[in-house]
Amino acid sequence: MPDIIVSHEGPIRKIRMNRPEKKNALTLAMYESMAAAIEDSGKTEGVKCLLIAGAPDVFCAGNDLNDFVAMARAGGLGAPIVRFLHALARCEKPIVAAVSGAAVGVGATMLLHCDQVIAGENAILLTPFVSLGLVPEAGSSLIAPRLMGHVRAFSLLVMGKPLTAEDAKEAGIVNKVVPVGELDALSLATARDIAVLPPDSVAAARRLMRGSVDEIVARIDEEAEAFKTRLASPDTQKAMAAFLSRKR
Ligand code: COA
Repeated sequence: MPDIIVSHEGPIRKIRMNRPEKKNALTLAMYESMAAAIEDSGKTEGVKCLLIAGAPDVFCAGNDLNDFVAMARAGGLGAPIVRFLHALARCEKPIVAAVSGAAVGVGATMLLHCDQVIAGENAILLTPFVSLGLVPEAGSSLIAPRLMGHVRAFSLLVMGKPLTAEDAKEAGIVNKVVPVGELDALSLATARDIAVLPPDSVAAARRLMRGSVDEIVARIDEEAEAFKTRLASPDTQKAMAAFLSRKR
């Protein structure tokens, strides 16, 4: 099975992260596949809605930390990461996310670009950017304070305080919390509800509601610059090495 499974249910394109042995940590190849599936949806008339999902016990453990270590050595940030983040921000089709288990780092911040987020009761959102010596990414430094206010965004993005599914609902990131066993069916039903609406009208409404995409893309690029610098810092190197070499 590939690490990213793209499949279709009528007008819905499902993008499932499928690297369970590494908790769906995203490699550069996975970013490429997800970016391609999102970009292509804009050119494919038959796709009316995207559905992003993970596994029942984990949505996504964020960026693969081994890749981060390699990128820090090479002194860059992988182009596929930026491509994926731009694709998310520029996506013209509505996006539903089905989240269960941990959503860490970009696993959490990608949700800020979704139009409906259905969470299993076991979902937990966590962005340990600052404790890893990093900065928030994916446009989250712009979108999260707008969505939940500065103080709650600070708790999440800077202090690394986790949000349970109910917390995330209360913060406006998640719109429905459901039993894990019902997550797939209910998120698909939500995507179907969107897919039957007049697509041009959905696209126009979505554009109006999201505000300036260029502003979001510019913030993603600004964050990426800071992220790249922080990635090579001793704090980050130490924190990532500690996770990767921990004894269990
Ligand atoms: N990058 C690389 N490998 C990762 C990873 C990541 N982001 N997250 C998990 N893994 C690997 C672990 O190293 C472990 O590999 P191993 O079996 O070869 O030792 C495997 O996935 C299982 O992870 P484990 O930590 O044992 O699972 P868990 O259920 O106890 O915890 C998480 C799940 C997601 C809470 C935990 O793995 C975690 O915190 N991951 C790091 C998240 C992170 O910091 N992401 C970057 C944010 S910027």
